[in-house]
Amino acid sequence: MITNSRSSGADGMEMAINTRDLNLWYGTFQALFDINLQIKKGIITSLIGPSGCGKSTFLRSVDRINERLGYVRITGSVDVFNHNIYAQDVELAQLRKQVGMVFQRPNPLPISIRENILFGYRIHHEKGGKVSKGEADGIVEEALRQVLLWDQVKDRLDQKATMGLSLEEMQKLCIARLLPVKPSILLMDEPCSALDPKGTAAVEELIWELRGRYSILIVTHNMAQARRASEECIFMLMGRVVEHSPTDRLFVTPRHKETADYIEGRYG
Ligand SMILES: Nc1ncnc2c1ncn2[C@@H]1O[C@H](COP(=O)(O)OP(=O)(O)OP(=O)(O)O)[C@@H](O)[C@H]1O
Ligand SMILES: [Mg+2]
Repeated sequence: MITNSRSSGADGMEMAINTRDLNLWYGTFQALFDINLQIKKGIITSLIGPSGCGKSTFLRSVDRINERLGYVRITGSVDVFNHNIYAQDVELAQLRKQVGMVFQRPNPLPISIRENILFGYRIHHEKGGKVSKGEADGIVEEALRQVLLWDQVKDRLDQKATMGLSLEEMQKLCIARLLPVKPSILLMDEPCSALDPKGTAAVEELIWELRGRYSILIVTHNMAQARRASEECIFMLMGRVVEHSPTDRLFVTPRHKETADYIEGRYG
């Protein structure tokens, strides 16, 4: 494993995520090949590519979720803000605080809306004592306001989050509950794929609102979403990165034939 690697790009900009020669195997099957990516701080980067090309695998390797499977092997390094997250002294709890993940299907906990928001915060802060009611109220309101959900749910905060919320509201809640622990990176794995067009539009708008405050890496099968919602775009094919460019350039003048074929819908 490589440690102490630099995470600044050629232009000296601080990188949110910097991988070097990242390879990943599920048993004997290699899912990622020599991934060298520099993902910039404070912007939205989208990750596209056909089904099975390794998008989710890559995302999960930035949060160290893959290794829960005993048969996963990883070589190379992943730096998050200059620290190799695969170094021996990394605490997973600390990493999960810094890197939040949103999944395809909204997965709120079967507890109240309010407690969903406070859940992660309590885990990270309650060792030293209880969170006061006033503090908790402030945290809940701020998180829900950031995801544009406060007005819809402020009168039913004690209602179970798994009941009575639309999928769109649930997904916004799943984003909101990451915010109180102040992550610097949000990983989103097809966060709109379970939503209808209206829900997709609303959640996309929200993701755009969060730009600048967080570094966001979002996987999507929706080309229109990638074009609208991201500043840089990465195209993967069969476990490899084919192209990583400013989104406009990738869609208008792709550098590789494989990218052009994919965005024109010839496979995928
Ligand atoms: N837990 C696992 N065990 C074994 N193989 C896996 C596992 N998860 C994914 N794979 C394999 O690794 C490859 C990449 O899968 P991954 O889920 O990362 O692709 P993806 O790009 O996210 O696809 P999709 O667009 O369908 O979500 C695929 O061949 C998949 O079958
Ligand atoms: Mg996937």
